[in-house]
Amino acid sequence: MPKIYHERLVNAKEMVKKAHAGKYAIGHFNINNLEWTKSILEAAQASNTPTIIATSEGAVKYMGGVKTIVGMVNGLLEELNITIPVSLHLDHGQSVEMAKKCIEAGYSSIMFDGSHLPYEENKQKTKEVVEFAKQYEVSVEAEIGSIGGEEDGVVGQGELGDPTEAQEFSTLGIDMLAAGIGNIHGKYPEWWTSLSFETLEKLQTASKMPMVLHGGSGIPQNQVEKAISLGISKINVNTELQLAFRDATRKYIEEKKDLDDKTKGFDPRKLLKPGADAIKATFLELTGWFGSQGKAK
Ligand code: 13P
Repeated sequence: MPKIYHERLVNAKEMVKKAHAGKYAIGHFNINNLEWTKSILEAAQASNTPTIIATSEGAVKYMGGVKTIVGMVNGLLEELNITIPVSLHLDHGQSVEMAKKCIEAGYSSIMFDGSHLPYEENKQKTKEVVEFAKQYEVSVEAEIGSIGGEEDGVVGQGELGDPTEAQEFSTLGIDMLAAGIGNIHGKYPEWWTSLSFETLEKLQTASKMPMVLHGGSGIPQNQVEKAISLGISKINVNTELQLAFRDATRKYIEEKKDLDDKTKGFDPRKLLKPGADAIKATFLELTGWFGSQGKAK
């Protein structure tokens, strides 16, 4: 069966495999619109950084559907002459149908997230997605459920994955595995102190495969680096770019530049530029931590 996705896209399998062997991590960045996509692709190309751009199901709805996203991404790859490895990935796909729909529309990588389903059902549906995806050379990320973040009666670590489940999932034909290691999506709460490296070591020993760190925004640099040294090969970032965009846009508006009619400060191409530049700067800072810059051959 031929690949459906654009010739300038790649699946994420080789990228994460190389990162796992080379002890660095590929950045997965969620996109929300044209500015996000263009900024990430330009910064990735300029810094020779293999990159995964991802949409959650919510972002798919927001942007007008998978065909709109595939059209925008493929167009940018050609028009901006992007030559570094880029994957277009579905983040937290909730159903086998959605996974298939994205593959048929031209995505090159899929996450099927059955972590909230009963274990056997998650396993079965993950297998179904793998079977379909492999026909089209699309990579697959799966997620196992959590055993809860409670240690000695203190809930303070986020969610923790189960090594036995990690081992079983590593045999399903998936390319990367997400599991809780005390990570949390969004802004980290005051009480949060650290990733659970003990859990990560156990999960890595059990699965021996590239592992994915979700909730990659706001984790201190030394913890990110330690996680990579212990088998994290893909790091998902969404909130951090949103905050960077927010801060830069807020500054522009607080400086009343949007009210300057003489310079047409209201033109969205001007109004959104500081935010777009901030996305690029944050991308470069984080991929610097991840060690993925310069890794595109
Ligand atoms: P953050 O928004 O916390 O960076 O999480 C992103 C993520 O894990 C997407 O899957």
